[in-house]
Amino acid sequence: MTVIEIVQGDITLQDTDAVVTAANESLMGGGGVDGAIHRAAGPRLAAAGAEIGPCDPGDAMATPAFDLYPPVRHVIHTVGPVWEGGDFGEAEILASCYRRCLEVADELGVRSLAFPAIATGVYGFPAEAAARIAVATVVGASSAVERVRLVAFDREGRDVLEAALASLRPPAGSHLDTAAR
Ligand code: APR
Repeated sequence: MTVIEIVQGDITLQDTDAVVTAANESLMGGGGVDGAIHRAAGPRLAAAGAEIGPCDPGDAMATPAFDLYPPVRHVIHTVGPVWEGGDFGEAEILASCYRRCLEVADELGVRSLAFPAIATGVYGFPAEAAARIAVATVVGASSAVERVRLVAFDREGRDVLEAALASLRPPAGSHLDTAAR
């Protein structure tokens, strides 16, 4: 059973076995959260990314975490969809990012994994829809990862994730609870 945590903070400071970066297809680093993780992990991360890339949108690939602080051992690079209005498979590509990251984490024996809000920055994916996809995909996955931490960079992002999680779980004991079943 995977426990989902929602936090507000910097993904480079999370004490999880692995962290996910919202990369571009080259895996050689960029801005946003990718830039922050590459700065924290050091230049070897871009070199390792160049060796295994390119990575297709919706896929995920792992490298060591290099200079990121313990216990982080792995960086899982995933490439989100560029938002083009919603009619070009963006939702499925984003769901695939979360699914593939969990699959790669399982292959590595990762027990705790931190995700940023993939694709909601430069790639322009609407935050609420992205949060619903993130939460639904993690809840629906059959992964051995024991703890998934969804890391929002700001309060608004955290509120959106918490609302998405709450919408999946009817209030315990409420009449909606039984109706929802
Ligand atoms: N910790 C946690 N979350 C962060 C951090 C951080 N240090 N820095 C940024 N974020 C958040 C942003 O606020 C946003 O909600 O990460 C989310 C994803 O935004 P981006 O980093 O812009 O990623 P994305 O929208 O997927 O665009 C990827 O941007 O940096 C380039 O190389 C990257 O081309 C790729 C594109």
